[in-house]
Amino acid sequence: MKELNLKYPVVMAPMFLVTNESMLRQSIEAGILGCFPSLNYRKDEELKNVLSSLNSHIAGRNGQPGNYGVNLIVQRSNIFFEKHLQICVDQKVPVYITSLGNPKVTIEAAHSYGAKVYCDVTNIAHAKKCYDYNCDGFVAVGQGAGGHAGPNPLMLLIASLKKNFPDKMVLAAGGISHGSSLLSVLAAGADAGYIGTRFIACTEASITEEYKDEVVRAHMDNIVMTDRISGTPCTIINTPYAMKIGLHQNRFERYLGRNPRTKKYFKMLVAKRGMNWLEDAVKPGNYHKLWCAGQSVEMIDEIKPIRTIVTDLMLECNDAYEKLKMNYG
Ligand SMILES: Cc1cc2nc3c(=O)[nH]c(=O)nc-3n(C[C@H](O)[C@H](O)[C@H](O)COP(=O)(O)O)c2cc1C
Repeated sequence: MKELNLKYPVVMAPMFLVTNESMLRQSIEAGILGCFPSLNYRKDEELKNVLSSLNSHIAGRNGQPGNYGVNLIVQRSNIFFEKHLQICVDQKVPVYITSLGNPKVTIEAAHSYGAKVYCDVTNIAHAKKCYDYNCDGFVAVGQGAGGHAGPNPLMLLIASLKKNFPDKMVLAAGGISHGSSLLSVLAAGADAGYIGTRFIACTEASITEEYKDEVVRAHMDNIVMTDRISGTPCTIINTPYAMKIGLHQNRFERYLGRNPRTKKYFKMLVAKRGMNWLEDAVKPGNYHKLWCAGQSVEMIDEIKPIRTIVTDLMLECNDAYEKLKMNYG
């Protein structure tokens, strides 16, 4: 993966409240692309410091493969967007991932100094808009992805993106936590696997051990969708607390979310409340068990260091490839 300076076709996907600096450093060391949401650092100084520390880390590696990227929520409800974009541009962030909105401003700002931008898309209509804004590629978010999953089967989305936009890179997101799934998205035409949930259960994450253990323990049937956290359906582990707050907005909330006069402010309010809930849940000793994870928990059996996760994924991917060659080669 020369374009992104990677050893392996793997992206550690950005995860709100989960991805931290240590995970990013280890991803870089493992030769993959480590990404984090800018919203994990809401104080300007914190974001600046993390970026400058990552830049020094990369500079000290003398071009060895391994890179990092920042995820910006480009939706209007993100009040930090403009400030965060400016800090990222000042720090010359090498890779951007945009999600939930119009990526035009980010693409223009990033391209002004040669950075790359990959846009989260769940369908071809949105991808076409990003293509017209001259994005460098897409994150194909398919069914079963952790966070805001897409409605379409991942394999179909990858194939269709490659057919419609053959010159653009596709990073495949949704349900990859074993190397055989990584191989299958590469075979479908993706340039890399974009993996979130698998990395929640890593040694370096500074979330509670309870959350990590739950990711190891949970099966795909334990994952449910809720629109209570951000207003957009999002995957969480089914816990008694999740059931208590409910998975769906009530009629009044839906009305406020649709009404042109209240829509913008209500969405901001819902997003703020959801952030507070999730933030509480990752703090030690908290009994509010509201944990985001995708269905790929099914194949996660162990908490491991990031470098082991990456090595294991690549070994499994190679094993699956050898088996295929033996059976059909
Ligand atoms: C705990 C968690 C937090 C997430 N936070 C974000 C986020 O802040 N921004 C974003 O664009 N995607 C977010 N995602 C989605 C991931 O970036 C990625 O698309 C997804 O995890 C891929 O699917 P997988 O979990 O099945 O590997 C999150 C996912 C999880 C599991």
